[in-house]
Amino acid sequence: MKFFVDIADVEEIKKAIELGVCDGVTTNPTLVMKSGKSQEEAVKEIAKALGDRPLSVEGISDDAEGIVKEAEEFVKWGKNIVIKVPMTKEGMRAVVMLSKKGIKTNVTLVFSPSQALIAAKAGATYVSPFVGRLDDISEDGMQLVRDMLQIFRNYGLETEVIVASVRHPEHVVEAAKAGAHIATVPPKVLEQLWHHPLTDKGIKTFKEHYEQTKKWD
Ligand code: G3P
Repeated sequence: MKFFVDIADVEEIKKAIELGVCDGVTTNPTLVMKSGKSQEEAVKEIAKALGDRPLSVEGISDDAEGIVKEAEEFVKWGKNIVIKVPMTKEGMRAVVMLSKKGIKTNVTLVFSPSQALIAAKAGATYVSPFVGRLDDISEDGMQLVRDMLQIFRNYGLETEVIVASVRHPEHVVEAAKAGAHIATVPPKVLEQLWHHPLTDKGIKTFKEHYEQTKKWD
């Protein structure tokens, strides 16, 4: 499974690249705002740091023509730009237009299997089910992921599933067990994935025992 990092902070992204856990990045207007930079500045900087890895960028237009216009500007900012498009009728019209132009898309705010199927039929490169936000309203976010993967497999659809709105390590593990192509993970959750208290305890014990044997030199 590929890991994308769900952040617009270039320093965090560089750290994840160094650790080998960054196959791409997803941003949204909220994350860019938190970075304290303008959309253009943040996107250009991240796109450069990522090299060939994909970077999802989100605009604010509601109509297809507006989404395409924004997309045509965003793709000038890096060779790896993917356009986040909201799951609406106008959004899907934009996905059809963008895929004809060879511009990659990530259909976002997906909350049902039927939305995922429609996005894939429109030619989306990626679809992003928001599992945490479904869990928040007492629905089963990961069941949505399983359902859409089954539908895509049934018909050999090439659209990749990015599990988004990831809130804890279990979401990542369940996404991997379901066979999701990608999980987009905030740095806080990425950090939690590394740790296990028995690893720390084991390292400490081995160090103590090594020191003990050194005394016997
Ligand atoms: O990039 C979208 C996303 O992952 C949102 O997550 O935690 O705001 O639901 P969250």
